[in-house]
Amino acid sequence: MCGIVAITSSNRRGDLGILLTEALKKLEYRGYDSVGIAVVDQGNLYVAKNVGTVESVAKSENFASLSGCVGIGHTRWATHGAPSKKNSHPHTDCAKKIAVVHNGIIENYSELKNFLLSRGHVFISDTDTEVVPHLIEEFKRAGLDTYSAFRKAVSMLRGTFAIVAIDIDGGRKLLFTRKVSPLVVGIGSDFVLVSSDIVSILPYTDRVVVLNDDEVGYAEPGRVFIETVGGRSVDVASRVMKVDYGVEDFDKGPYEHYMIKEIREQPYTLNQTLSGLISSRDEVEKSLKLLESADSIYIVGAGSSYYASLLGSLYFRYLGFRAQALVSSEATPYLRGVRPGDVVVVVSQSGETIDTLLAMRESAKRGARVVAIVNNPLSTIARESDAYVYMKSGPEICVAATKTFTSQVLVLSYLGLAMTRDSHRIEASLRALRRLPEITASMISSTENAARKVAKKISTEHSVYYLGRAFGYPISAEAALKMKEVAYVHAEAYPAGESKHGPIALVASGFPVVFTIVGELDELIEGNIEEMKARGAYVITYAPSDRITSTVERNSDLVIPLPQVLLEVSLVTYVIPHQLLAYYTSIERGYNPDRPRNLAKTVTVF
Ligand code: G6P
Repeated sequence: MCGIVAITSSNRRGDLGILLTEALKKLEYRGYDSVGIAVVDQGNLYVAKNVGTVESVAKSENFASLSGCVGIGHTRWATHGAPSKKNSHPHTDCAKKIAVVHNGIIENYSELKNFLLSRGHVFISDTDTEVVPHLIEEFKRAGLDTYSAFRKAVSMLRGTFAIVAIDIDGGRKLLFTRKVSPLVVGIGSDFVLVSSDIVSILPYTDRVVVLNDDEVGYAEPGRVFIETVGGRSVDVASRVMKVDYGVEDFDKGPYEHYMIKEIREQPYTLNQTLSGLISSRDEVEKSLKLLESADSIYIVGAGSSYYASLLGSLYFRYLGFRAQALVSSEATPYLRGVRPGDVVVVVSQSGETIDTLLAMRESAKRGARVVAIVNNPLSTIARESDAYVYMKSGPEICVAATKTFTSQVLVLSYLGLAMTRDSHRIEASLRALRRLPEITASMISSTENAARKVAKKISTEHSVYYLGRAFGYPISAEAALKMKEVAYVHAEAYPAGESKHGPIALVASGFPVVFTIVGELDELIEGNIEEMKARGAYVITYAPSDRITSTVERNSDLVIPLPQVLLEVSLVTYVIPHQLLAYYTSIERGYNPDRPRNLAKTVTVF
């Protein structure tokens, strides 16, 4: 997590502080514990940083007053050292000539710190990062130039990191390296940007180079030098790519929050995803061929991507394929069973989640082929996969996933469906899936009032259960995750039948229980609704109209009708009313749903 941005320009820029502030605003989704920038101007290093949002810190620390040719910025998600001013990045050396920003974790920092302390260096923060500027300083003292000192310093680091450094003695050089944590270089006419994400580069240039693991180098206006840590130099020109996102995709538009914007965008984004699946025949066929040849299929993801994987694996099984979903961070022991001939489907919006990336590498090591489902074709996961499907959902800024979850489910459903090679079935389902934009739009408008109403009830509660059977369970799990993430209400999803084996003990008068009926494989759910009602639960049931029986009506305090649609369409869309519910509960409780506390959009630490 953490977001890094850096710029080197051929002209002294009076607006350098403002430029870094604007770029950092686009990276705030990666962490918002603290913010800082450092610039070199006329032979001096200036650092400004503090705890707070980009907007508030930029104002209180007067970022706008900083000028210069080179600068670095950082927005932090704390790992080592509590969020505080002294732990905020950038960090500096003893002489205050070198400044460093870092995303990731330096595992051997204590050992390096002891070495540096023995050499007389003085540390100010509790972070792992601070060893880096001191190491560079140490090697410069020994006679190395700035880049050689940086190179030597990073060769001593163990862990995962993306690092950018500047040095008063380094001219206009931005020094950078990357191991696991992402870093992208953006090349402009008279400037170069380096950032954790292209979102902060795109307003300025669409020409980028994505760094690979274990690459190190520097950028100055008109020149980007990259080599491997092993010393092999990289042909930068052959690595330059043109990105085709529009800057406008990152705007909040007329909406108060990105979350509601992204929920409402789903009629459009699902259409984009489906059109992409239909039109990018070669890439999708490549993924399909791999899947069809698989002995076993594993589907791996984290957070919402895991619940999409769970839903996808259940659908694959429903269709008769052998598939198992795994949580990325827990995948390693299960992946021991992976053999050559198996296929691992890696699901990741960002394509950078570290646990997912490591699960993917572990699978490849064991001889499995990897199919990735990503929303960033430049990401590490996309680049290291054997084949990938690009979801085309557009940038998702809210930390909690909404539109990318539904697109992931759509991709998995499409792949499962296509694997059947049953042309009648495929034809019928595609006809239904093509109606996703109108079904999604009408689902949003028909359930929004109910979401506001239920939000009022849930906003005063400490706990809520989300129950479903079969396909209803992963949807409930994603619904509960949304509620926890943005409204901070304890929300627990359980397979409805299993709720009798423990969770029901907590149910007393008025305890909210949300049921989701999907309409296939969950015939027994009515009994579970009755059981909860009998214990006094406040029952809220989301169900397609043909499943709203008299038993459901009698035992529910509130029934929210969902459109009666084909299974594949319900898998994609039935979570949407729950996204709205989580959003309105967050608003009702007075929170900012875009920035849930302690969370980050892209998790690049273990
Ligand atoms: C974080 C985000 C979630 C996301 C998960 C996996 O926890 O807050 O919204 O679902 O990471 O991210 P990925 O990019 O791999 O889908």
